[in-house]
Amino acid sequence: SAKPVQVKLVLLGEAAVGKSSLVLRFVNNEFQENKEPTIGAAFLTQKCRLEDKIIKFEIWDTAGQERFASLAPMYYRNAQAAVVAYDITKQASLEKAKSWVKELQRQANPNIIIALVGNKLDLEAERTVPTEEAQAYASEQGLLFTEASAKSGEFVMEVFTEIAKKIPLE
Ligand code: GTP
Ligand code: MG
Repeated sequence: SAKPVQVKLVLLGEAAVGKSSLVLRFVNNEFQENKEPTIGAAFLTQKCRLEDKIIKFEIWDTAGQERFASLAPMYYRNAQAAVVAYDITKQASLEKAKSWVKELQRQANPNIIIALVGNKLDLEAERTVPTEEAQAYASEQGLLFTEASAKSGEFVMEVFTEIAKKIPLE
């Protein structure tokens, strides 16, 4: 079978939206109820097998706490893909996600694939961000869009598979 295509992917988003939890679900199929905040960034890898190719994601999971914001360019520089996450129960986290998208559009690789992900879909009863609002913003900006839950696992694979499908074959 074909040699894996390596893809550098960065995760960005407000603190506690569940970036590390999405990665932990994707990489280990696990969830931790009291996951500690990321300090600086964490690096993980995971493969995604499609019909015609294997993508090896090299994932930089950044820290959302404001004191680490200045480190982000080191991680999105040369990234081919970005997951920008927000929490569907926190409207302010969508605003923060939009500001990351703007920064990526100005400063990152012009061909970067950006996926907007509304996490914590299991907390539907506490939702404050309507699906249609985030969906409309994503399509206006040309972003992939998924709502997912790192806790239940729902639609987490889809986030990474949709990105993998958009990576051109070498
Ligand atoms: P920073 O590293 O500080 O930027 O945070 P983060 O975005 O990596 O968030 P993290 O994955 O650490 O999750 C923050 C909290 O939200 C933890 O207590 C998680 O257990 C919880 N959490 C993450 N994803 C979900 C989810 O899908 N549903 C629910 N209910 N809780 C979640
Ligand atoms: Mg984290």
